[in-house]
Amino acid sequence: MSKKFISFKLDYPIYTLDKRLFLPASKELTSEALDELIATNKDTSYQALSFLEYGTVYQDIVRLLQKPPYHIIFEELKKTIALSLMKKISFISPILEFLDYLKKYEFYTYRHSLVVFAMSTIIARDLLEKPEDWVIEVMAGTIHDFGKMCVPLKILKKSDPLTRTDRSILEHHALAGFVLLSYFLKDSKSFAARVAKEHHERRDGSGYPLGISLRDRMVEIIAACDIYDALLSPRPYRPTSYDNRTALEEITEMAQEGKLSSEVVKILVSHNRKDKPHFRECRLSTEKRGIPPAENLYGIIVEKEGS
Ligand SMILES: [Fe+2]
Ligand SMILES: [Fe+2]
Repeated sequence: MSKKFISFKLDYPIYTLDKRLFLPASKELTSEALDELIATNKDTSYQALSFLEYGTVYQDIVRLLQKPPYHIIFEELKKTIALSLMKKISFISPILEFLDYLKKYEFYTYRHSLVVFAMSTIIARDLLEKPEDWVIEVMAGTIHDFGKMCVPLKILKKSDPLTRTDRSILEHHALAGFVLLSYFLKDSKSFAARVAKEHHERRDGSGYPLGISLRDRMVEIIAACDIYDALLSPRPYRPTSYDNRTALEEITEMAQEGKLSSEVVKILVSHNRKDKPHFRECRLSTEKRGIPPAENLYGIIVEKEGS
């Protein structure tokens, strides 16, 4: 990663899971500062455990993938592929503790993290064929929201519209995740750290935190799965989730607007079609027949609490 990518100021502090202040707000973060931070952790060794065998992860993922609408994508063979991949993946203890924290206090992000991982495996397999090209990368789907440990639960679970400050604290999770994963993985160039930083960036530069234009195919896979699954999921700020058809129409529109990779969206669409066409033969329809859920507060910002 070149130096120009690592030079930003933190708007909010970064905390670890045990509420320890890790970095104060306003800290100017450069490549050198980040390397110094990583160096302070070089002698720590973390235990790594199998993802598949950790806690109830296996049962949880199996249960999730057989639920509608995920069961349409994850017919038996694809479920087996996602699960057999999990066998190859180990996570260090700070990551597993984060998954435990989510499971206990923010179940939505826990199940979302498992689904984004599983969906990414299916897309990477179609796009990159040779598993050795992507097995390590899809792990990042599980921890793309690692920085959410710094976002107060009352913001993550809020059912009222967010204030402007809530919104920017929420968006802080991208840079916080990047710094924390760089530190724990002892590598600011690790793919997982990059995904934490870039999964809300868009192809046309309209995303956050840095407004760069996303061009990395693997990051784009995780970014598209992240949005698609967020639409399909129950969220505190809307009484019902998007139905599958409307969610697919939304991501199709985002691809047409140049925000998401059309190739990746085509794969998601093709896995949802009955005849399962090869994604290169799959045409994205511009027709919009779905009905977005009513009373969706997503994106509505109020100036202050209760206004
Ligand atoms: Fe995120
Ligand atoms: Fe996410």
